[in-house]
Amino acid sequence: MRCAPARPEDLDAITAIHAACFGPKAWPRIDFENALYSETDQLTCIYRNGVICGFSQIRGDGDSAEILTFGVHPKRRDKGYGAALLCAAMTRAQAYGAAEIMLDVRQDNIPAISLYRRAGFTRIGKRKNYYKDLIDKRPVYTDAHVYKKELNLPLP
Ligand SMILES: CC(C)(COP(=O)(O)OP(=O)(O)OC[C@H]1O[C@@H](n2cnc3c(N)ncnc32)[C@H](O)[C@@H]1OP(=O)(O)O)[C@@H](O)C(=O)NCCC(=O)NCCS
Repeated sequence: MRCAPARPEDLDAITAIHAACFGPKAWPRIDFENALYSETDQLTCIYRNGVICGFSQIRGDGDSAEILTFGVHPKRRDKGYGAALLCAAMTRAQAYGAAEIMLDVRQDNIPAISLYRRAGFTRIGKRKNYYKDLIDKRPVYTDAHVYKKELNLPLP
């Protein structure tokens, strides 16, 4: 496996992976295209044999960076891609000047929370009723947990 900054030819695969991860809440291709050419955002992909298995989008704002979205294709999970991608994305954020990285995660997203905790993130807060889903046409709200990690990774 190999992690690298996303390229324009990766945008379709990134959009498809995001849709496979987040279903009706997936973002349109234009959002990732804007991120690719943004001065604040970093799109990072993980490839195996040239095929994209996952990607992350991180936004840097001075000393602090935020993971905006992060996902591994459902068929590629539980193989270490998520952990490798997270490490690469954090290293890249640090290289761009971030001293800390934050993220919001659904409180019921056990795989992601386990991954972040294992990578050294600690929970620093909660956003009440942050996520809204429609179940049987009724709104159901879920809290977000806010996690943070100081960035002091060895840079290449
Ligand atoms: C979260 C996600 C990125 C993990 O990707 P992955 O490639 O399967 O993760 P890895 O194989 O690298 O696993 C790394 C660690 O994550 C945790 N983890 C991964 N899948 C897990 C699961 N189903 N249950 C519990 N912990 C899990 C474990 O701590 C694991 O370490 P271990 O294998 O040593 O126990 C993936 O499940 C995903 O894309 N989910 C949908 C999108 C999403 O929720 N993104 C995060 C939004 S904040």
